Amino acid sequence: MPNDDAENSEQPKGELVIRTIAMPADTNPNGDIFGGWLMAQMDLGSGILASKMAKTRVVTVAVEGMSFLQPVKVGDTVACYAWVESVGRTSMKIPVEVWVQRYMHTEQTRVTRAVFTYVAVDPSGRPVPVERL
Ligand SMILES: CC(C)(COP(=O)(O)OP(=O)(O)OC[C@H]1O[C@@H](n2cnc3c(N)ncnc32)[C@H](O)[C@@H]1OP(=O)(O)O)[C@@H](O)C(=O)NCCC(=O)NCCS
Repeated sequence: MPNDDAENSEQPKGELVIRTIAMPADTNPNGDIFGGWLMAQMDLGSGILASKMAKTRVVTVAVEGMSFLQPVKVGDTVACYAWVESVGRTSMKIPVEVWVQRYMHTEQTRVTRAVFTYVAVDPSGRPVPVERL
């Protein structure tokens, strides 16, 4: 795993798809932010990008390489960045990274990454082709 300095010298890439604040309601009894809450933000954010690309309803079919690199704390500003890596016939592979800005700090730190795969579907949930630009 890269050291903190290397992590901090990088900047987020991709599109800012969601930004929110980690709240006390998102914690477990130990006061730590739930990984599941973070995954939900990543799914919401990358889903926005997927449906914008497909111009139709999409469903999440797979999540790969989920890595929690640093903890998220109450009060952190949580930003999800995503980009379309590849488009198949009906599916889209979308890497997502979460970067946080700690409370009262300016620098951003990457805390989580994963690759989400979405499938474009019709109103009945059947796969439909994604139009390529
Ligand atoms: C997504 C879904 C419609 C795909 O149905 P399916 O019968 O597997 O359809 P297909 O075999 O035609 O596959 C469709 C595409 O999904 C891809 N795919 C299917 N399973 C996959 C997996 N586990 N990982 C990555 N891609 C997958 C296929 O490669 C194909 O991509 P392509 O068209 O770009 O080549 C179906 O699996 C489904 O409804 N899953 C539940 C989705 C859901 O509810 N998500 C939210 C969970 S709470």
